[in-house]
Amino acid sequence: MKDLAGKHIVLGLTGGIACFKAAELCRSLVKEGATVQVVMTEAAEHFITPVTMQALSNRPVYGSQWDPREPNSMPHINLSRDADAILIAPASADFMAKLLHGRADDLLSLLCLARPAASVPLIVAPAMNREMWAHPATQRNVAQLKADGVEVLEVGQGEQACGETGDGRMLEADEILADLIAFFTPKVLAGQHVLVTAGPTYEAIDPVRGITNLSSGKMGFAIARAAREAGADVTLVAGPVSLPTPRAVGRVNVKSARDMLTAVQAHIEQATVFVATAAVADWRPATAADQKIKKDGSGDTPELRFIENPDILATVAQSLRGQRGFRGEPGGLFCVGFAAESHDLLSHASAKRTRKGVPLLVGNIGPATFGQDDNALLLVDAQGAIEVPRASKLELARKLIAEIAQRALGPGQKQ
Ligand code: CTP
Repeated sequence: MKDLAGKHIVLGLTGGIACFKAAELCRSLVKEGATVQVVMTEAAEHFITPVTMQALSNRPVYGSQWDPREPNSMPHINLSRDADAILIAPASADFMAKLLHGRADDLLSLLCLARPAASVPLIVAPAMNREMWAHPATQRNVAQLKADGVEVLEVGQGEQACGETGDGRMLEADEILADLIAFFTPKVLAGQHVLVTAGPTYEAIDPVRGITNLSSGKMGFAIARAAREAGADVTLVAGPVSLPTPRAVGRVNVKSARDMLTAVQAHIEQATVFVATAAVADWRPATAADQKIKKDGSGDTPELRFIENPDILATVAQSLRGQRGFRGEPGGLFCVGFAAESHDLLSHASAKRTRKGVPLLVGNIGPATFGQDDNALLLVDAQGAIEVPRASKLELARKLIAEIAQRALGPGQKQ
């Protein structure tokens, strides 16, 4: 299922060099299943042609309120009524000032004013030079637009087309897409702080070698993304993986199990939900050599002795037992464990749930999930077990987040 299937987006372009990113954004929206109606201001047409946007959206582009194609001559009404959202990207400083004052001297500002505000949200992705962005007039306008119920996306930071460096770039197309998908997601974890561990750990033997496992981190990263989409503040403690950080998720990179425990302990106070997805190495070499272990020519192999790593999930669950509880009451912490097994999933997962002292344990078959983009889950709690059939890890993560919200917050407390 595509993330924007069935959604109709009016994509508005205003004058700015970031119009080139709007082409890719349009393509991404269509790829995710949305229908896209492009509306451009005259200034936008100086930066990118309507022909490009028509080809990408597969629909004629509108620019004028006097467009003769509309039989009733009211494109501002016709185009705004069936939209699931109006997304202005790029939104220039001038266009935001116009929105603020309710001015309506071109089709795009006119249809923003004419939209049924209760059912058609307005989302803007600002794009401008850093001085224009920092100007008190722009900042005042942003604050007032937010107060008026407009969703103002963040700006990016970095090198600008003018050669200056600072805040004000438009977000990249993939970032806007992620924000839009999150915008449409029910906020079942609003106000919650979710801490997720993901990926493998790496236990050093010497400065150039170590032991690790085949965990890709994909499931944990998908859970972090799904939790953010559901409105939570998310911190992701990641072992050594090269996956991109999900949008608007705080990431702490760690290597060893002990580093992971330290990072988790540093963030657990604020957390209300803890999801331990990481495939933590159970053992580490008893000593890590300071220098590379060299062959000495004798043919003898080094002796490796192992000691057990701390169990992060059990440590957290046990240390909090009785102090913060497991449910979503203020100050409470809801802990979720994973179990990677090779066989007898239900019995191993049930035993592990009790051993770790957590209310919910998610079982999966290790060899069938490591490195894959899809998986199947078995959710085990005190009531029994629920099978979640094979699907992409993102789909599974979204279902898991809904299950966690239900258990942690209860139906009455969901927002
Ligand atoms: N876990 C952890 N710290 C460890 C080991 C595991 O936090 N040192 C967490 C994992 O993140 C997962 C759960 O405990 O949520 C179960 O991990 P798993 O490797 O399946 O189980 P183990 O406890 O290692 O038990 P075993 O290897 O005997 O199956």
